[in-house]
Amino acid sequence: MSLPSPTPDNRAVVTGASSGIGTALAAELAARGYSLILVARREELLTALADELTAKHGITAEVRAVDLADRAARAPLTEELAGRDIAVLCNNAGIATFGAVAELDPAYERDQLELNAVAVHDLSLAVLPGMLANRAGGILISGSAAGNMPIPNNTTYAASKAFANTFSESLRGELKGTGVHVTLLAPGPVRTEIPDPADASIVDRLVPGFMWVSSEYTAKVSLDALAKNKMRVVPGLISKGMSVAGQYGPRAVTAPVAGAFYRKLGS
Ligand SMILES: NC(=O)c1ccc[n+]([C@@H]2O[C@H](COP(=O)([O-])OP(=O)(O)OC[C@H]3O[C@@H](n4cnc5c(N)ncnc54)[C@H](OP(=O)(O)O)[C@@H]3O)[C@@H](O)[C@H]2O)c1
Repeated sequence: MSLPSPTPDNRAVVTGASSGIGTALAAELAARGYSLILVARREELLTALADELTAKHGITAEVRAVDLADRAARAPLTEELAGRDIAVLCNNAGIATFGAVAELDPAYERDQLELNAVAVHDLSLAVLPGMLANRAGGILISGSAAGNMPIPNNTTYAASKAFANTFSESLRGELKGTGVHVTLLAPGPVRTEIPDPADASIVDRLVPGFMWVSSEYTAKVSLDALAKNKMRVVPGLISKGMSVAGQYGPRAVTAPVAGAFYRKLGS
């Protein structure tokens, strides 16, 4: 079984649609005929994207400017989605921090956990009953290769993505035969914009060019994988190598190696 066909009433929801992989997912879904609900905090970027995709593909695009790390702000959205006909949910919004967790802002670390893990849980549970009743639907969860292993100096992110990875793959197992698809996107580095060499970030400088895949490619292979109900999609050969090392390498070896690399990202 594939994903529900787009209709005038059903919607594909993309969180984190204001930049990077989320913008590319929204563009790919619109190209496939889906009307959208675009979610992030920066309303002006969402509105510009909605206008662009509406003009290009003749779809409807609704904007929800919501801080998903704030439970009270998130509640009206989860309530709305529970009552709408949702064909696809892309749980994609996420943030990361680098450096020793004791030296980072505790409030921002908590927001990171809330956004990367609890909001993913909330939104998925909001749309599931409707998808089960329709016997069709797709949930894509943007986890990470970082969720496959312990990563000192990326502690909250790695732990939150471990939740996303495991939640996605566990949920998929529960939904076998229901018509509802769940796919984990677990990438390594995805280049969301070409950096200006003058002010390239430490990540851009430390991760060599050949290791990156584009947001557009990532969005396309992710939605193809969701349509086929694949368990996990890992775009790009280098990401696949990282994924195998993280999943099958001894943690006593991978943790210090990854930790040393991420210490540089935090400095
Ligand atoms: N790029 C990579 O190399 C890579 C690798 C592995 C995994 N991933 C995962 O893939 C996903 C997308 O990554 P990306 O690189 O495309 O990220 P990005 O370009 O930094 O975009 C992050 C998105 O999340 C939204 N967001 C951040 N905080 C939010 C909040 N509190 N409430 C609502 N929305 C919020 C941002 O919008 P606003 O600022 O407008 O709210 C933005 O649209 C993330 O979950 C990330 O962890 C990325």
